[in-house]
Amino acid sequence: MQFTIVGAGSIGCLWAASLAKVHSVHLWTRDTQLHREFTFTPLDRKTITVAPTQLKLPSNQALRLQQSDCVLITVKAFQVAQAIEAIQPWLAPSTPIVIMHNGMGSQAVALQKLPHNPILYATTSQAAFKPQPDHVQHTGIGQTWLGAINPAAQHLHNLADEFNNVLAPCQWHQDIQQPLWQKLAINCAINPLTALHQCKNGELTQQKYQTALMNICQEVAEIMCAEGYLTTAETLKEQADQVIQATANNFSSMNQDVCHHRQTEIDYITGHIVRCGQHYNIRTPFNAQLWQQIKTMEQKAS
Ligand code: PAF
Repeated sequence: MQFTIVGAGSIGCLWAASLAKVHSVHLWTRDTQLHREFTFTPLDRKTITVAPTQLKLPSNQALRLQQSDCVLITVKAFQVAQAIEAIQPWLAPSTPIVIMHNGMGSQAVALQKLPHNPILYATTSQAAFKPQPDHVQHTGIGQTWLGAINPAAQHLHNLADEFNNVLAPCQWHQDIQQPLWQKLAINCAINPLTALHQCKNGELTQQKYQTALMNICQEVAEIMCAEGYLTTAETLKEQADQVIQATANNFSSMNQDVCHHRQTEIDYITGHIVRCGQHYNIRTPFNAQLWQQIKTMEQKAS
C-alpha cells in the first residue's frame, strides 16, 4: 500500500518507520523538502532497545499524495484544520483519512472539510520520543484503536490489520468514541498536572496530587456518563494511576510543550471537558481552573 503521513513529530515518525517495513511511505510536512532522513531506534517486545536504522523517505510530493491508498494525519489537534487544507488540493475523494492525536474536538472540522472521504480516528498508547530533531526513539508499546467516524469508513477494518502487522497491538473498534474518551480521561488527569508542576508522570503518585487527580476524574466521569459512556471517578483514577506507573519515567507531551514554549493541546483535552460541561450544564470547576492555568502559562511563553 502507499501511505502518506502528515506530520513528522515523534508519533508520525514512529508510524512512518513502522509502515515503511512493508509499505511505501511518503511524508507531508510544513517545509518543502522532497526527502526526509531520520534515525529510528526501535524497541523490541522485551523492551530492550535494538540497533538504530537510518530512513530516507520521500516528502511533500503532490503526485505521491494523490496516489496514496491511505493518509494518516498525526499533527496536534489544533493543527488538523490547517493540515487538511494543505493536502486537500491533491486528495482523491475516496482516499481514507486516519486522524490520530491526543484530545477530542477536531472531528467536526474534519467531517466538514472532507465531506466525501472515509474518515477514521485512531488513539494510541504507543510512546515515542525525539532525543534530537532527526532521531526518533520508540519508548513504549501500547494499544492502538482505530474506527470509523462516517459511514464511508465503516468497512475499512482491514486498515486496523495493516497497522497491527507493523506496530502491534492495533484493533478495530466499532465505536471509536469510547477509546477516545478513555484516553482523554487519562490525558486530563496526567497532562495538565505534569505541565503545571513541571514533573515526570511518576511524580503524580505522591500524596499531594491525589485530591487533584480525584477531582479531575470526578468531573470527567460525569461528562462521560452524560455522553453515554458509563464510568466512575474511581475507575478513571485507577486507570490513570496505571498509566502514571507504566510511564513513570516519561515527561508528558504537555509537560514538554510547556517546557519548549510550544502551544499545548489543553483546548482539546481539559478544554473539551469544560466545553462539554457547559453543553450539559455540568459544573467542571477543577478542569476549568487547570485550563486557565495552562492558558496563562502558554500566554506568558509566547
Ligand atoms: O500525552 C502524553 O504524554 C501521553 O498521552 C500520556 C499517556 C499522558 C503519557 O505521557
